Amino acid sequence: MQKLRKQLIALSLTAAVSGAWAQSASPDLAPMPDVKPGNAAMIELGKYFFFDNRLSGDWGVSCASCHDPQKGWGDGKALSAGYPSMEYFRNAPTVLNSAHQKRYLWDGRLDGSDAGTLVRDMITETHTMNMDSRLMQERLKQVPEYNALWAKWRKDDINGMRVYNVIGEFIKTIRTTNAPFDKFKKGDEAALSADQKLGYEVFKGKAGCVACHNGPIGSDGNLHKTGVPEHPDVLKNPLRTITMLRHYSTSGMPNYMNARTDVGAYAITKDKRDMGKFRTAQLRDLKYTAPYMHNGVFATLDEVIDFYDKGGGAGSVLKPLNLTAAEKKSLKEFLLTLSGDPVIVKDPGQPDMQVWTAYGKN
Ligand code: HEC
Ligand code: HEC
Repeated sequence: MQKLRKQLIALSLTAAVSGAWAQSASPDLAPMPDVKPGNAAMIELGKYFFFDNRLSGDWGVSCASCHDPQKGWGDGKALSAGYPSMEYFRNAPTVLNSAHQKRYLWDGRLDGSDAGTLVRDMITETHTMNMDSRLMQERLKQVPEYNALWAKWRKDDINGMRVYNVIGEFIKTIRTTNAPFDKFKKGDEAALSADQKLGYEVFKGKAGCVACHNGPIGSDGNLHKTGVPEHPDVLKNPLRTITMLRHYSTSGMPNYMNARTDVGAYAITKDKRDMGKFRTAQLRDLKYTAPYMHNGVFATLDEVIDFYDKGGGAGSVLKPLNLTAAEKKSLKEFLLTLSGDPVIVKDPGQPDMQVWTAYGKN
Protein backbone atom coordinates (compact mmCIF):
# COMPACT_ATOMS: atom_id res chain seq x y z
CA MET A 1 0.00 0.00 0.00
CA GLN A 2 2.85 2.34 0.95
CA LYS A 3 4.48 1.56 -2.38
CA LEU A 4 1.28 2.26 -4.26
CA ARG A 5 0.91 5.55 -2.46
CA LYS A 6 4.45 6.57 -3.37
CA GLN A 7 3.77 5.58 -6.96
CA LEU A 8 0.65 7.71 -7.03
CA ILE A 9 2.41 10.69 -5.52
CA ALA A 10 5.19 10.31 -8.10
CA LEU A 11 2.53 10.09 -10.78
CA SER A 12 0.79 13.25 -9.53
CA LEU A 13 4.12 15.08 -9.67
CA THR A 14 4.87 14.04 -13.25
CA ALA A 15 1.25 14.77 -14.13
CA ALA A 16 1.51 18.25 -12.60
CA VAL A 17 4.66 18.93 -14.60
CA SER A 18 3.25 17.61 -17.86
CA GLY A 19 0.00 19.48 -17.12
CA ALA A 20 1.94 22.73 -17.01
CA TRP A 21 3.58 21.84 -20.29
CA ALA A 22 0.28 20.99 -21.89
CA GLN A 23 -1.07 24.35 -20.82
CA SER A 24 1.79 26.41 -22.17
CA ALA A 25 1.50 24.58 -25.50
CA SER A 26 -2.31 25.13 -25.41
CA PRO A 27 -3.76 21.64 -25.15
CA ASP A 28 -5.64 20.01 -27.98
CA LEU A 29 -7.00 16.65 -28.96
CA ALA A 30 -4.70 14.56 -31.16
CA PRO A 31 -5.27 11.77 -33.65
CA MET A 32 -4.78 8.16 -32.51
CA PRO A 33 -1.04 7.44 -32.73
CA ASP A 34 0.26 4.65 -34.93
CA VAL A 35 1.51 1.75 -32.85
CA LYS A 36 4.01 -1.00 -33.49
CA PRO A 37 2.30 -4.38 -33.69
CA GLY A 38 2.81 -6.43 -30.49
CA ASN A 39 3.95 -10.04 -30.20
CA ALA A 40 1.50 -12.05 -32.33
CA ALA A 41 1.69 -15.27 -30.29
CA MET A 42 1.03 -13.38 -27.03
CA ILE A 43 -1.91 -11.53 -28.55
CA GLU A 44 -3.46 -14.74 -29.85
CA LEU A 45 -3.15 -16.41 -26.43
CA GLY A 46 -4.38 -13.26 -24.69
CA LYS A 47 -7.52 -13.33 -26.80
CA TYR A 48 -8.32 -16.88 -25.65
CA PHE A 49 -7.67 -15.98 -22.02
CA PHE A 50 -9.82 -12.82 -22.24
CA PHE A 51 -12.88 -14.90 -23.09
CA ASP A 52 -12.12 -17.89 -20.82
CA ASN A 53 -14.15 -18.07 -17.61
CA ARG A 54 -11.76 -20.66 -16.17
CA LEU A 55 -9.66 -17.63 -15.18
CA SER A 56 -12.18 -16.78 -12.45
CA GLY A 57 -12.40 -18.49 -9.08
CA ASP A 58 -15.86 -19.99 -9.51
CA TRP A 59 -15.46 -20.59 -13.27
CA GLY A 60 -18.34 -18.13 -13.70
CA VAL A 61 -16.99 -14.96 -15.34
CA SER A 62 -14.38 -13.98 -17.91
CA CYS A 63 -13.02 -10.53 -18.70
CA ALA A 64 -15.62 -10.42 -21.48
CA SER A 65 -18.50 -10.79 -18.96
CA CYS A 66 -17.86 -7.21 -17.84
CA HIS A 67 -15.96 -5.98 -20.92
CA ASP A 68 -18.16 -7.29 -23.72
CA PRO A 69 -17.06 -6.39 -27.28
CA GLN A 70 -20.74 -6.11 -28.24
CA LYS A 71 -21.24 -3.47 -25.53
CA GLY A 72 -18.33 -1.19 -26.33
CA TRP A 73 -16.04 -3.43 -24.22
CA GLY A 74 -17.96 -2.53 -21.05
CA ASP A 75 -21.18 -4.12 -19.75
CA GLY A 76 -23.71 -1.44 -20.65
CA LYS A 77 -24.81 -1.11 -17.00
CA ALA A 78 -24.48 1.94 -14.78
CA LEU A 79 -22.86 -0.06 -11.97
CA SER A 80 -20.92 -3.27 -12.44
CA ALA A 81 -22.39 -6.47 -11.03
CA GLY A 82 -18.94 -7.50 -9.88
CA TYR A 83 -18.03 -11.09 -9.06
CA PRO A 84 -21.03 -13.39 -8.58
CA SER A 85 -22.64 -12.76 -5.13
CA MET A 86 -21.27 -9.21 -5.02
CA GLU A 87 -22.38 -5.92 -6.52
CA TYR A 88 -19.71 -3.37 -7.35
CA PHE A 89 -20.02 0.34 -6.56
CA ARG A 90 -18.60 1.70 -9.83
CA ASN A 91 -19.14 1.35 -13.55
CA ALA A 92 -17.17 -1.17 -15.63
CA PRO A 93 -15.26 1.07 -18.07
CA THR A 94 -14.36 0.14 -21.62
CA VAL A 95 -11.01 -1.54 -22.27
CA LEU A 96 -10.75 0.35 -25.57
CA ASN A 97 -7.50 2.31 -25.87
CA SER A 98 -5.96 0.79 -22.72
CA ALA A 99 -2.58 1.27 -24.42
CA HIS A 100 -3.04 5.04 -24.25
CA GLN A 101 -4.30 5.59 -20.68
CA LYS A 102 -1.86 7.45 -18.44
CA ARG A 103 -3.57 5.94 -15.41
CA TYR A 104 -5.95 3.03 -15.03
CA LEU A 105 -9.23 2.86 -13.09
CA TRP A 106 -11.74 5.57 -12.25
CA ASP A 107 -9.72 6.85 -9.30
CA GLY A 108 -6.48 6.57 -11.32
CA ARG A 109 -4.91 4.21 -8.79
CA LEU A 110 -2.72 2.29 -11.26
CA ASP A 111 -0.04 3.45 -13.68
CA GLY A 112 -1.18 3.30 -17.31
CA SER A 113 2.16 1.95 -18.49
CA ASP A 114 1.65 -1.34 -16.64
CA ALA A 115 -1.23 -3.29 -18.16
CA GLY A 116 0.04 -6.51 -16.54
CA THR A 117 -0.57 -5.17 -13.03
CA LEU A 118 -4.04 -3.97 -13.98
CA VAL A 119 -4.88 -7.45 -15.34
CA ARG A 120 -3.48 -9.09 -12.20
CA ASP A 121 -5.80 -6.96 -10.07
CA MET A 122 -8.83 -7.79 -12.24
CA ILE A 123 -8.09 -11.52 -11.90
CA THR A 124 -7.12 -11.71 -8.24
CA GLU A 125 -9.43 -9.07 -6.69
CA THR A 126 -12.38 -10.63 -4.86
CA HIS A 127 -14.85 -8.19 -6.44
CA THR A 128 -13.92 -9.00 -10.05
CA MET A 129 -12.61 -12.53 -10.70
CA ASN A 130 -11.57 -13.74 -7.24
CA MET A 131 -8.89 -16.04 -8.61
CA ASP A 132 -5.73 -17.43 -7.06
CA SER A 133 -2.85 -17.01 -9.49
CA ARG A 134 -1.41 -20.50 -8.89
CA LEU A 135 -4.79 -22.17 -9.34
CA MET A 136 -5.23 -20.27 -12.59
CA GLN A 137 -1.82 -21.41 -13.79
CA GLU A 138 -2.61 -25.09 -13.08
CA ARG A 139 -6.01 -24.86 -14.76
CA LEU A 140 -4.54 -23.36 -17.91
CA LYS A 141 -1.77 -25.96 -18.06
CA GLN A 142 -4.41 -28.67 -18.49
CA VAL A 143 -5.47 -27.23 -21.85
CA PRO A 144 -3.39 -28.76 -24.68
CA GLU A 145 -4.14 -25.90 -27.13
CA TYR A 146 -2.87 -23.37 -24.60
CA ASN A 147 0.38 -25.28 -24.09
CA ALA A 148 0.84 -25.42 -27.86
CA LEU A 149 0.19 -21.67 -28.27
CA TRP A 150 2.48 -20.89 -25.33
CA ALA A 151 5.27 -22.99 -26.94
CA LYS A 152 5.11 -20.73 -30.02
CA TRP A 153 6.18 -17.90 -27.75
CA ARG A 154 8.36 -19.42 -25.00
CA LYS A 155 10.20 -22.59 -24.04
CA ASP A 156 8.99 -22.71 -20.41
CA ASP A 157 5.57 -23.76 -19.07
CA ILE A 158 2.52 -21.55 -18.65
CA ASN A 159 3.26 -19.20 -15.77
CA GLY A 160 0.68 -17.20 -13.81
CA MET A 161 2.62 -13.93 -13.82
CA ARG A 162 3.19 -14.07 -17.56
CA VAL A 163 -0.50 -14.76 -18.17
CA TYR A 164 -1.21 -11.23 -16.91
CA ASN A 165 1.18 -9.71 -19.45
CA VAL A 166 -0.27 -11.88 -22.21
CA ILE A 167 -3.78 -10.53 -21.56
CA GLY A 168 -2.28 -7.04 -21.27
CA GLU A 169 -0.79 -7.43 -24.77
CA PHE A 170 -4.19 -8.44 -26.10
CA ILE A 171 -6.15 -5.56 -24.59
CA LYS A 172 -3.60 -3.09 -25.94
CA THR A 173 -4.69 -4.10 -29.45
CA ILE A 174 -8.29 -2.96 -28.77
CA ARG A 175 -8.26 0.58 -30.05
CA THR A 176 -10.32 3.19 -31.84
CA THR A 177 -10.02 2.88 -35.61
CA ASN A 178 -11.29 5.01 -38.47
CA ALA A 179 -12.77 7.83 -36.40
CA PRO A 180 -13.85 10.85 -38.50
CA PHE A 181 -11.90 13.12 -36.13
CA ASP A 182 -8.63 11.32 -36.91
CA LYS A 183 -9.21 11.64 -40.66
CA PHE A 184 -9.93 15.34 -40.16
CA LYS A 185 -6.76 15.88 -38.11
CA LYS A 186 -4.76 14.12 -40.80
CA GLY A 187 -5.98 16.60 -43.39
CA ASP A 188 -9.34 15.35 -44.67
CA GLU A 189 -11.42 18.54 -44.24
CA ALA A 190 -14.57 16.77 -45.43
CA ALA A 191 -14.39 14.19 -42.63
CA LEU A 192 -16.27 16.60 -40.31
CA SER A 193 -19.48 18.45 -41.16
CA ALA A 194 -19.77 22.21 -40.60
CA ASP A 195 -21.80 21.55 -37.45
CA GLN A 196 -19.20 19.13 -36.09
CA LYS A 197 -16.44 21.67 -36.74
CA LEU A 198 -18.48 24.23 -34.82
CA GLY A 199 -18.75 21.71 -31.99
CA TYR A 200 -14.96 21.36 -31.98
CA GLU A 201 -14.67 25.14 -31.54
CA VAL A 202 -17.14 25.04 -28.62
CA PHE A 203 -15.14 22.13 -27.13
CA LYS A 204 -11.89 24.13 -27.28
CA GLY A 205 -13.39 27.56 -26.65
CA LYS A 206 -16.56 28.49 -24.77
CA ALA A 207 -17.02 25.08 -23.08
CA GLY A 208 -13.35 24.65 -22.15
CA CYS A 209 -13.53 20.84 -22.26
CA VAL A 210 -10.06 20.66 -23.80
CA ALA A 211 -8.41 21.82 -20.56
CA CYS A 212 -8.83 18.29 -19.19
CA HIS A 213 -9.87 16.27 -22.23
CA ASN A 214 -6.83 16.40 -24.50
CA GLY A 215 -4.29 14.16 -26.25
CA PRO A 216 -5.13 11.19 -28.47
CA ILE A 217 -7.85 9.69 -26.25
CA GLY A 218 -9.15 12.95 -24.80
CA SER A 219 -7.76 12.55 -21.28
CA ASP A 220 -4.97 14.46 -19.55
CA GLY A 221 -4.67 11.47 -17.19
CA ASN A 222 -5.01 13.82 -14.20
CA LEU A 223 -7.41 13.80 -11.26
CA HIS A 224 -10.18 16.42 -11.06
CA LYS A 225 -13.27 17.10 -9.05
CA THR A 226 -16.29 17.66 -11.28
CA GLY A 227 -18.90 16.77 -8.63
CA VAL A 228 -20.67 13.97 -10.47
CA PRO A 229 -23.72 13.09 -8.31
CA GLU A 230 -23.71 9.83 -6.36
CA HIS A 231 -25.57 6.88 -7.79
CA PRO A 232 -28.39 6.23 -5.26
CA ASP A 233 -28.08 2.43 -5.52
CA VAL A 234 -24.61 2.46 -3.93
CA LEU A 235 -26.14 3.28 -0.52
CA LYS A 236 -29.53 1.67 -1.10
CA ASN A 237 -28.11 -1.73 -1.95
CA PRO A 238 -26.06 -3.11 0.98
CA LEU A 239 -24.06 -5.33 -1.38
CA ARG A 240 -22.76 -2.26 -3.20
CA THR A 241 -22.09 -0.40 0.07
CA ILE A 242 -20.05 -3.43 1.19
CA THR A 243 -17.77 -3.42 -1.89
CA MET A 244 -17.26 0.32 -1.47
CA LEU A 245 -16.35 0.04 2.23
CA ARG A 246 -14.16 -2.98 1.54
CA HIS A 247 -12.25 -0.96 -1.06
CA TYR A 248 -11.75 1.86 1.50
CA SER A 249 -10.69 -0.53 4.22
CA THR A 250 -8.14 -2.32 1.96
CA SER A 251 -6.76 1.08 0.95
CA GLY A 252 -6.26 1.99 4.62
CA MET A 253 -8.59 4.99 4.48
CA PRO A 254 -9.06 6.57 7.94
CA ASN A 255 -12.63 6.60 9.34
CA TYR A 256 -13.87 4.71 6.34
CA MET A 257 -17.02 3.42 8.07
CA ASN A 258 -18.37 6.97 8.08
CA ALA A 259 -17.95 7.43 4.33
CA ARG A 260 -21.24 7.83 2.52
CA THR A 261 -19.91 8.97 -0.86
CA ASP A 262 -17.47 7.73 -3.46
CA VAL A 263 -14.37 9.61 -2.29
CA GLY A 264 -12.42 8.75 -5.47
CA ALA A 265 -8.66 9.29 -5.31
CA TYR A 266 -8.75 10.28 -1.62
CA ALA A 267 -9.06 6.63 -0.56
CA ILE A 268 -5.69 5.99 -2.20
CA THR A 269 -3.71 9.14 -1.40
CA LYS A 270 -5.46 10.08 1.91
CA ASP A 271 -4.82 13.68 0.90
CA LYS A 272 -7.97 15.72 1.62
CA ARG A 273 -7.39 17.72 -1.57
CA ASP A 274 -8.09 14.53 -3.55
CA MET A 275 -11.52 14.03 -1.99
CA GLY A 276 -14.04 13.34 -4.78
CA LYS A 277 -11.43 13.50 -7.54
CA PHE A 278 -11.51 11.09 -10.46
CA ARG A 279 -9.28 10.51 -13.45
CA THR A 280 -10.40 12.39 -16.56
CA ALA A 281 -12.34 9.85 -18.62
CA GLN A 282 -11.36 9.31 -22.25
CA LEU A 283 -13.73 10.60 -24.94
CA ARG A 284 -13.09 7.90 -27.54
CA ASP A 285 -15.92 5.64 -28.68
CA LEU A 286 -18.55 7.30 -26.46
CA LYS A 287 -21.00 6.13 -29.15
CA TYR A 288 -20.69 2.61 -27.71
CA THR A 289 -19.93 3.16 -24.02
CA ALA A 290 -23.04 4.65 -22.33
CA PRO A 291 -23.90 5.09 -19.50
CA TYR A 292 -21.24 7.62 -18.47
CA MET A 293 -19.08 8.60 -15.47
CA HIS A 294 -17.54 6.51 -12.66
CA ASN A 295 -20.99 5.40 -11.52
CA GLY A 296 -22.84 5.47 -14.84
CA VAL A 297 -25.19 8.09 -13.43
CA PHE A 298 -25.76 9.75 -16.84
CA ALA A 299 -27.51 7.64 -19.44
CA THR A 300 -26.92 9.94 -22.42
CA LEU A 301 -24.43 12.49 -23.74
CA ASP A 302 -27.19 15.13 -23.53
CA GLU A 303 -27.30 14.59 -19.77
CA VAL A 304 -23.49 14.85 -19.58
CA ILE A 305 -23.50 18.12 -21.55
CA ASP A 306 -26.31 19.57 -19.38
CA PHE A 307 -24.27 18.64 -16.30
CA TYR A 308 -21.26 20.59 -17.59
CA ASP A 309 -23.47 23.45 -18.77
CA LYS A 310 -24.64 23.96 -15.18
CA GLY A 311 -21.03 24.08 -13.96
CA GLY A 312 -20.85 20.46 -12.78
CA GLY A 313 -22.02 19.23 -9.36
CA ALA A 314 -21.35 20.01 -5.70
CA GLY A 315 -17.81 21.20 -4.95
CA SER A 316 -16.80 21.11 -8.60
CA VAL A 317 -13.94 23.14 -10.08
CA LEU A 318 -16.15 23.94 -13.10
CA LYS A 319 -18.11 27.10 -13.90
CA PRO A 320 -21.52 27.37 -15.64
CA LEU A 321 -21.11 27.60 -19.42
CA ASN A 322 -24.40 29.13 -20.63
CA LEU A 323 -24.35 27.15 -23.88
CA THR A 324 -27.17 27.70 -26.35
CA ALA A 325 -29.25 24.72 -27.50
CA ALA A 326 -27.44 24.86 -30.86
CA GLU A 327 -24.01 24.85 -29.19
CA LYS A 328 -24.97 21.86 -27.07
CA LYS A 329 -26.09 19.98 -30.14
CA SER A 330 -22.91 20.81 -32.09
CA LEU A 331 -20.79 19.79 -29.11
CA LYS A 332 -22.52 16.42 -28.96
CA GLU A 333 -22.16 15.89 -32.72
CA PHE A 334 -18.47 16.70 -32.37
CA LEU A 335 -17.92 14.29 -29.45
CA LEU A 336 -19.31 11.49 -31.60
CA THR A 337 -16.66 12.10 -34.30
CA LEU A 338 -14.11 10.72 -31.82
CA SER A 339 -15.78 7.31 -32.15
CA GLY A 340 -14.53 4.85 -34.74
CA ASP A 341 -15.83 1.67 -36.28
CA PRO A 342 -17.11 -0.89 -33.80
CA VAL A 343 -14.18 -3.03 -32.63
CA ILE A 344 -15.60 -6.53 -32.47
CA VAL A 345 -13.50 -9.56 -31.60
CA LYS A 346 -15.27 -12.90 -31.68
CA ASP A 347 -15.07 -15.24 -28.72
CA PRO A 348 -12.64 -17.92 -29.98
CA GLY A 349 -14.31 -20.52 -27.73
CA GLN A 350 -12.82 -22.52 -24.89
CA PRO A 351 -10.53 -25.37 -25.87
CA ASP A 352 -11.14 -28.45 -23.69
CA MET A 353 -9.02 -29.54 -20.80
CA GLN A 354 -7.14 -32.79 -20.85
CA VAL A 355 -5.12 -34.07 -17.95
CA TRP A 356 -1.38 -33.51 -18.31
CA THR A 357 0.07 -37.04 -18.07
CA ALA A 358 3.20 -38.18 -16.30
CA TYR A 359 4.66 -39.10 -19.70
CA GLY A 360 5.01 -35.53 -20.81
CA LYS A 361 2.77 -32.81 -22.12
CA ASN A 362 -0.71 -33.74 -23.28
C1 HEC B 1 -17.01 -8.59 -12.67
C2 HEC B 1 -16.72 -7.57 -13.64
C3 HEC B 1 -15.32 -7.44 -14.19
C4 HEC B 1 -14.50 -8.43 -14.68
C5 HEC B 1 -14.76 -9.92 -14.71
C6 HEC B 1 -13.32 -7.75 -15.19
N1 HEC B 1 -13.44 -6.40 -15.01
FE1 HEC B 1 -12.15 -4.98 -15.68
N2 HEC B 1 -13.15 -3.59 -14.64
C7 HEC B 1 -14.33 -3.78 -13.95
C8 HEC B 1 -14.63 -2.61 -13.16
C9 HEC B 1 -15.85 -2.42 -12.27
C10 HEC B 1 -13.59 -1.69 -13.39
C11 HEC B 1 -13.42 -0.32 -12.73
C12 HEC B 1 -12.98 -0.47 -11.30
C13 HEC B 1 -12.67 0.84 -10.58
O1 HEC B 1 -12.23 1.79 -11.24
O2 HEC B 1 -12.84 0.90 -9.37
C14 HEC B 1 -12.69 -2.33 -14.36
C15 HEC B 1 -11.56 -1.72 -14.93
C16 HEC B 1 -10.82 -2.29 -15.97
C17 HEC B 1 -9.84 -1.59 -16.77
C18 HEC B 1 -9.44 -0.13 -16.62
C19 HEC B 1 -10.05 0.76 -17.68
C20 HEC B 1 -9.81 2.21 -17.38
O3 HEC B 1 -10.56 3.04 -17.90
O4 HEC B 1 -8.89 2.56 -16.64
C21 HEC B 1 -9.33 -2.49 -17.68
C22 HEC B 1 -8.30 -2.22 -18.76
C23 HEC B 1 -9.97 -3.77 -17.39
N3 HEC B 1 -10.87 -3.60 -16.37
C24 HEC B 1 -9.66 -4.95 -18.03
C25 HEC B 1 -10.10 -6.19 -17.57
C26 HEC B 1 -9.53 -7.48 -17.97
C27 HEC B 1 -8.41 -7.67 -18.96
C28 HEC B 1 -10.24 -8.44 -17.30
C29 HEC B 1 -10.00 -9.93 -17.29
C30 HEC B 1 -8.70 -10.35 -16.80
C31 HEC B 1 -11.26 -7.76 -16.51
N4 HEC B 1 -11.11 -6.40 -16.67
C32 HEC B 1 -12.24 -8.40 -15.75
C33 HEC B 1 -15.10 -4.93 -13.99
C34 HEC B 1 -14.63 -6.17 -14.39
C1 HEC C 1 -11.74 20.00 -14.87
C2 HEC C 1 -11.54 18.93 -15.84
C3 HEC C 1 -12.66 18.61 -16.79
C4 HEC C 1 -13.31 19.45 -17.68
C5 HEC C 1 -13.08 20.94 -17.90
C6 HEC C 1 -14.26 18.63 -18.40
N1 HEC C 1 -14.20 17.34 -17.97
FE1 HEC C 1 -15.27 15.78 -18.69
N2 HEC C 1 -14.50 14.57 -17.24
C7 HEC C 1 -13.57 14.96 -16.29
C8 HEC C 1 -13.45 13.93 -15.29
C9 HEC C 1 -12.55 13.96 -14.07
C10 HEC C 1 -14.34 12.90 -15.68
C11 HEC C 1 -14.66 11.63 -14.87
C12 HEC C 1 -15.63 12.04 -13.79
C13 HEC C 1 -16.28 10.91 -13.04
O1 HEC C 1 -16.35 9.79 -13.55
O2 HEC C 1 -16.77 11.17 -11.93
C14 HEC C 1 -14.98 13.33 -16.91
C15 HEC C 1 -15.91 12.60 -17.61
C16 HEC C 1 -16.46 12.98 -18.82
C17 HEC C 1 -17.30 12.15 -19.64
C18 HEC C 1 -17.70 10.71 -19.35
C19 HEC C 1 -16.99 9.71 -20.23
C20 HEC C 1 -17.30 8.29 -19.83
O3 HEC C 1 -16.93 7.39 -20.62
O4 HEC C 1 -17.90 8.02 -18.79
C21 HEC C 1 -17.67 12.89 -20.74
C22 HEC C 1 -18.54 12.45 -21.89
C23 HEC C 1 -17.09 14.20 -20.58
N3 HEC C 1 -16.35 14.22 -19.40
C24 HEC C 1 -17.24 15.25 -21.46
C25 HEC C 1 -16.83 16.56 -21.19
C26 HEC C 1 -17.23 17.70 -21.95
C27 HEC C 1 -18.14 17.66 -23.17
C28 HEC C 1 -16.66 18.80 -21.36
C29 HEC C 1 -16.83 20.25 -21.73
C30 HEC C 1 -18.20 20.72 -21.67
C31 HEC C 1 -15.88 18.32 -20.22
N4 HEC C 1 -16.02 16.95 -20.14
C32 HEC C 1 -15.11 19.12 -19.39
C33 HEC C 1 -12.88 16.15 -16.28
C34 HEC C 1 -13.24 17.28 -16.98
